[in-house]
Amino acid sequence: MTLRMTCETSPVTTTATPSVNDSVFLRACRGESVPHVPVWFMRQAGRSLPEYRKLREGVPMLESCFRPDMVIEFTMQPVRRHVVDAAILFSDIVVPLKAIGVDLDIVAGTGPVVAEPIRSADQLAQLRDIEPDDVIPIVESVKVVVDELGTTPLIGFAGAPFTLASYLIEGGPSKDHRLTKQFMYTNPDLWHALLARLAAIAGQFLRVQIEAGASAVQLFDSWAGNLSLADYDKYVKPHSAAVLSSVADLGVPRIHFGVGTGELLQSMGDAGADVVGVDWRVPLEEAAKRVGGGKALQGNLDSTALFAPTEVLNAKAAEVIESGRAAPGHIFNLGHGVLPATDPDALTRLVDFVHNYELASS
Ligand code: CP3
Repeated sequence: MTLRMTCETSPVTTTATPSVNDSVFLRACRGESVPHVPVWFMRQAGRSLPEYRKLREGVPMLESCFRPDMVIEFTMQPVRRHVVDAAILFSDIVVPLKAIGVDLDIVAGTGPVVAEPIRSADQLAQLRDIEPDDVIPIVESVKVVVDELGTTPLIGFAGAPFTLASYLIEGGPSKDHRLTKQFMYTNPDLWHALLARLAAIAGQFLRVQIEAGASAVQLFDSWAGNLSLADYDKYVKPHSAAVLSSVADLGVPRIHFGVGTGELLQSMGDAGADVVGVDWRVPLEEAAKRVGGGKALQGNLDSTALFAPTEVLNAKAAEVIESGRAAPGHIFNLGHGVLPATDPDALTRLVDFVHNYELASS
């Protein structure tokens, strides 16, 4: 444990204006000392919030992602309600694909559904580069959100090439990713060409968000945990590495996350992440050993713990915080997203608990 956890009483008197760069979230991403563990939640915007459900009524999910009024409001809602340490842009991993004209939709209760799944080389042509005109509403939304957030950082995000490819090949969500892996094993050249296209698009989408003001980015490889380490390293890692290195010049922390990735953690870190997101299955102390390299960790309370009695929830949150001390920096989060049935008040109380933890126990 380094001197990361200082018990600051009152800040030294200074005339310097606080800046987003000094925020607790960004300090933890960089492994610097923090007054408390920062916390935000994957899927903090969305169906757990009544104010979200009310405003989304009658508006298709993907349409809402291209309407700045909605993107701005939905991004801000969890920040206002829970006082989390970072906002994440309200969007979806398929938004950049929609923006370049891929025929797809997000179906309620199912997820992304692609009209013509990718099966051949000529279908790759539709995966063109993002042009500035494609993402005008996203850029506008980011700029307004960043302004409204003040010193609270905004996290931009993109889907990683493997997770995007899985939707494009399967045509929708899949449990076993059978068609995706069949494609990967049968047509390795076409597979690499597809992932290289998706890496370019994901990198461009992250760049757009950072240039508009996002202070960190997260690359979601949600389904990479379905791969063996050997297959991950051979078929996926080079492309995720290309995405992460394509924004290295912009100097913002890059978080790399997937579900069920216990065996892939070191490799996902090596792909060029500054922070590795960990799901609920691996204790952070163990994850820190696997990841190494001075990288910060993000995670990893089981999302279902929010349905437990408060004492149980708090005890589990305390375990996550204690375990996170093994890492050079720790950002508290869930091990995956907020479940739609979660009581939003339980999330607010959890934020309070995390923020007060160090002060109360030292
Ligand atoms: O975290 C946030 O608050 C930002 C919003 C966000 C959404 N999607 C909004 C959304 C983020 C970060 C995503 C990323 C995303 N989308 C991922 C990676 C993160 C993860 O969960 O692993 C993936 C795999 C997707 C694809 C996707 N989009 C799925 C699986 C679903 C859920 C389908 C369902 O209805 O259960 C979506 C839809 C979606 N994306 C919703 C939201 C708020 C729900 C749509 C609604 O409210 O009707």
